[in-house]
Amino acid sequence: MRGLFTSACLFLASVPSVFAASSAGCGKANTLTNKQYSMQVNGKNRNYFLNIPDNYNQNTPYRLIFTWHQLGGSAQKIVNGEDPKKGGALPYYGLKAIANNSAIFVVPDGISNGWANSGGEDVTFFDQLVKTVEADLCVNTDLRFSTGFSYGGAMSYALACARPEMLRAVAVISGAQLSGCSGGTKPVAYYGQHGTSDSVLNVSQGRALRDKFVANNGCTKLQSEPAPAGANSVKTQYSGCKEGYPVTWVIHNGDHNPSQTNSGSSTPFAPANSWEFFTQFK
Ligand SMILES: *[C@@H]1O[C@H](CO)[C@@H](O)[C@H](O)[C@H]1NC(C)=O
Ligand SMILES: *[C@@H]1O[C@H](CO)[C@@H](O)[C@H](O)[C@H]1NC(C)=O
Repeated sequence: MRGLFTSACLFLASVPSVFAASSAGCGKANTLTNKQYSMQVNGKNRNYFLNIPDNYNQNTPYRLIFTWHQLGGSAQKIVNGEDPKKGGALPYYGLKAIANNSAIFVVPDGISNGWANSGGEDVTFFDQLVKTVEADLCVNTDLRFSTGFSYGGAMSYALACARPEMLRAVAVISGAQLSGCSGGTKPVAYYGQHGTSDSVLNVSQGRALRDKFVANNGCTKLQSEPAPAGANSVKTQYSGCKEGYPVTWVIHNGDHNPSQTNSGSSTPFAPANSWEFFTQFK
């Protein structure tokens, strides 16, 4: 018995890549690359940008990260980034700069620059994007993520509700329930961030999204709401969550802003926080 167990462990340890959840695109020469594409979704033309790592390797199962723009934004603005000092988001929500070529980014464009998700059409867009990208590129299908600010946060939340088995984790920056929540009964690792002075989507709306996954993930509710420490954000990691389904909540004293910084820092904290949250999963 013991011998069997030991040799099974050695076997697992020696060939880990065999067990990575690799997409159909692994091992194939890619045709998709860094540019804008379009596809038909329910008879509508939908656009998106794709960004793949430098020196993309067809045998490396990469993380797949969806980045959804805010209301009035666009995929192009997420690709280019906007001035964080004027409340803009960094390129790819700041994640590409940290990712060091370990992730493929999908940047979709919303209908009328938003994510109303009428009849679930934006969730269907996500489904088709996953299929199209993974048929051509090498993705670790256990490591799909979604993030966005404001309406883009709402869209990430809608996906956590509707596609829990497809997403390893989401990061919702200053979100609210604007894109629906079909399903919403299963756990998904959840990072939420919101400002107490948010004048567009109030903090109660952000807390309500968080609390859905505090409940679904089986985490222990807090005795009281965490408050910002003056001009510094406060990060709370919930305890008691089901294994693999953590919830992290960051509260700050700012307004509706994806690029909030801590006192004395000029670096927005959302990118490093969400990257750390996503990469706890291997
Ligand atoms: C980036 O990735 C390369 C290749 O895996 C590695 O050699 C390098 O140390 C990484 N750089 C950083 C800053 O993590
Ligand atoms: C927050 O906004 C929602 C939606 O507009 C509203 O129903 C709710 O009363 C607001 N809550 C607070 C505490 O302002």
